[in-house]
Amino acid sequence: MRMVDLIIDKREGKAHTREEINYIIREYTAGNIPDYQMSAWLMAVCWRGMTEREVSELTSAMMHSGDVVDLSDLPGVKVDKHSTGGVGDTTTLVIAPLVAACGGTVAKMSGRGLGHTGGTLDKLESVPGVCIEKNIDEFKDIVRRIGLCVIGQSGNLVPADKLMYALRDVTGTVESIPLIASSIMSKKLAAGTDAIVLDVKCGTGAFMHTPEQAKKLARTMVKIGDALGRKTVALITDMDQPLGMAVGNGLEVREAIEVLSGKIKEGDMLYEVCMLLAENMLRLSGLAEDDREARAKLTKAIETGAGLKKLEQMLTALGARDAKACIADPNTLCTVKKKVPVYLNGEGYITGMHAADIGNAAQKLGAGRAEKTDIIDPAVGLVMHKRRGDFVKAGEPVATMYVNDESRLEEAVKTLRGAIELGAEKPEHEPMVYDVIK
Ligand code: URA
Ligand code: CA
Repeated sequence: MRMVDLIIDKREGKAHTREEINYIIREYTAGNIPDYQMSAWLMAVCWRGMTEREVSELTSAMMHSGDVVDLSDLPGVKVDKHSTGGVGDTTTLVIAPLVAACGGTVAKMSGRGLGHTGGTLDKLESVPGVCIEKNIDEFKDIVRRIGLCVIGQSGNLVPADKLMYALRDVTGTVESIPLIASSIMSKKLAAGTDAIVLDVKCGTGAFMHTPEQAKKLARTMVKIGDALGRKTVALITDMDQPLGMAVGNGLEVREAIEVLSGKIKEGDMLYEVCMLLAENMLRLSGLAEDDREARAKLTKAIETGAGLKKLEQMLTALGARDAKACIADPNTLCTVKKKVPVYLNGEGYITGMHAADIGNAAQKLGAGRAEKTDIIDPAVGLVMHKRRGDFVKAGEPVATMYVNDESRLEEAVKTLRGAIELGAEKPEHEPMVYDVIK
């Protein structure tokens, strides 16, 4: 087989065989196909697309390019959740404990934040003492003991994706549904769970800007899951504004604790998206017949404090020095030198928000990374006081910034102000959840 022939085939819109796809992934990962040929092939895939069969075979080839975690000796249905990346998205810290409190088994490998989106690992590390680097045996031990664990990626999972993603990033080939779907699903499948609930974000803060694009990506990923024997469901949710009100690591942990302790209630956007995700996780785990039964169980886990207890147990298992105290008073996670209210010019309804820029404003305060090596300040960030559709009066703050280092405060305020549009009329209601693809 010659790579140049495969590039030409894809350029002409032909479908590859399984052997051809395996060859490309195996030889590229081994360093036998140069970046310039892989780049040309990736660009051809961007233009020509792939059949459903090709996407599943590509995902399988990528998944097997490195270690595959075996969780089969853990009892029950192992369920994972994945978000395509949002702002103020602290759902994992709410639903992993809730699902575990309802008898589920949540074994999850998470990522770090980059750019405008936060990462669950960075949020967990805002709790003093927590260390998210565990080996697979330690990880499985914790899951066996308490029913859940969230850690950083361990071992050599999907090296093909690491190489391909770095190349896509610099060759304009990120935005391709077959490439995004196989990249995400190969990592989820290699992590070894039986069931996967995907949260595909759609809007100004997401990869996919329209519900149609997001649905197409969601359908592709659900089909990959089906083809490779994992139960998969995808929600398509709005990311035209931050999901929760808090954007920042300790601040988001505090908000997760507020949901788990019943302070944030039904009707709240973060609460509702958490519930919907967790309902699907319970259903796929065989712990509820339908969403109604699932919701009743989840609500109970909030009322009894069982969910909060699971979070405490997980933080303790990950090394937290005093998880109990942190949960009793999460304000200690976001103690800063200065809190700065942010005002807009004039008054009116919030007609639009640029979620990515709200994330960027928090990042400028030190809550996120512009580059992989940047150091995060766990306490800083911002809390929004208003949502899309709310009226903002003159002199009323739209957000509060939590600040330690003032060097980029002015810039952060400017970014946040620019992310919010005011208008004279109340905007039309937009759905929080566009669709559920089963
Ligand atoms: N997230 C991933 O993991 N891969 C992509 O290609 C895009 C988003
Ligand atoms: Ca929208």
